[in-house]
Amino acid sequence: MNVYTKVPIGLDGIPAAETVLSHVDGEQGRLIIAGADVADLAGRSSFEEVTARLWSGATGREIGTAEVRASLGTARQRAFGRLPELLAASRGMSIVDGFRVGIAALRAEDGLEHEATIVGAGPVIAGALTQRAQGHEPIAPDPAASHAADTLMMLGGHAPAPREVAALDAYFVTVCDHGMNASTFATRVVASTQADLFAAVTSGYCALTGPLHGGAPEPVLDMLNAIGSRERIKPWVDDALARGERLMGFGHRIYRVRDPRADVLKSAIQKLAVDGAGLPFAGEVEAYIREALRRKNPNRPLDTNVEFFTAILLDALKIPRQAFTPVFAVARAAGWTAHALEQRRTGRLIRPSSSYIGATPAARD
Ligand code: ACO
Repeated sequence: MNVYTKVPIGLDGIPAAETVLSHVDGEQGRLIIAGADVADLAGRSSFEEVTARLWSGATGREIGTAEVRASLGTARQRAFGRLPELLAASRGMSIVDGFRVGIAALRAEDGLEHEATIVGAGPVIAGALTQRAQGHEPIAPDPAASHAADTLMMLGGHAPAPREVAALDAYFVTVCDHGMNASTFATRVVASTQADLFAAVTSGYCALTGPLHGGAPEPVLDMLNAIGSRERIKPWVDDALARGERLMGFGHRIYRVRDPRADVLKSAIQKLAVDGAGLPFAGEVEAYIREALRRKNPNRPLDTNVEFFTAILLDALKIPRQAFTPVFAVARAAGWTAHALEQRRTGRLIRPSSSYIGATPAARD
């Protein structure tokens, strides 16, 4: 807490905008996206349908699912045509960094709204960077496919099974928006200056890449690999906590109970793979970590967050872990663009203050 202003450093609980897009209730463990509970959307509504709801809410114009599906198909094709320039400056970079460069290099496309250009380009850039990392040429998008199906095709290089498409679509819906998280805040700050959507979304992506936000799933897999076996769960976790480490995939700034997205993704994984795709081992690790965190911080509820099961789901879909954060961004781009549009239409320049704790020269007479 800031002793001068009583505003918490880190802005916990301070509303920075009014929004119709999503609401996170951290006490109840509830996430509402565009008027519906996340558990009722994932697996029932497609990513295109939820994106249409978000963009309709942000613009005040009724936008249909078919319109979104068509514009995203066109946008994927346009991005593919521009790949040489989108990838040019990212040679030698990781997939996570190359994605940042690719998004920043996007520009207005004739006949397409900026939001469609951005969301459509995401899987094309992520797919091309993933293929390039494996020494392969990029795979052309299919404008008639769903966004989830085409993403898997471009990332993996083969036609995905319907259950795989369903799993990625459920993931996209689950993580497409989440209140005033750090990357959405960054997006809205930039949009509030009336900078364009490309600038706003680039800043959102930059915020997402940190391990305290969207960069956690890759370290979650590293952790599961490092633990390795059932016998090592307790000693590994106890040692890590004794060293003061933060365990990736646990804890949340808002949720004081379990992140509702964790269970939505857990059930998507159960539907995806007959053998549960590593779920039994991960479940044991999860159970012990929850218990250990309760012991270590009895007064601060710390539970599983979305990133724990994201890691397992994306791994089961054979997406390389180096592409996890860009794949998260493919989905979250729907929320970022909606928030940028809403901010530009209804918001106010976001310009907080700081609390000066430096030296103050004597007042002049
Ligand atoms: N593992 C171990 N201890 C933790 C964890 C964790 N994952 N998370 C919080 N704690 C501890 C802190 O060390 C702190 O302990 P202390 O009081 O002894 O210093 C206490 O719990 C309170 O932590 P805060 O700093 O208040 O938690 P905050 O709200 O700032 O952090 C955050 C939230 C960043 C998500 C944190 O829980 C964390 O680092 N988790 C691991 C990374 C992660 O999973 N990130 C993905 C988040 S989901 C998303 O962004 C999509």
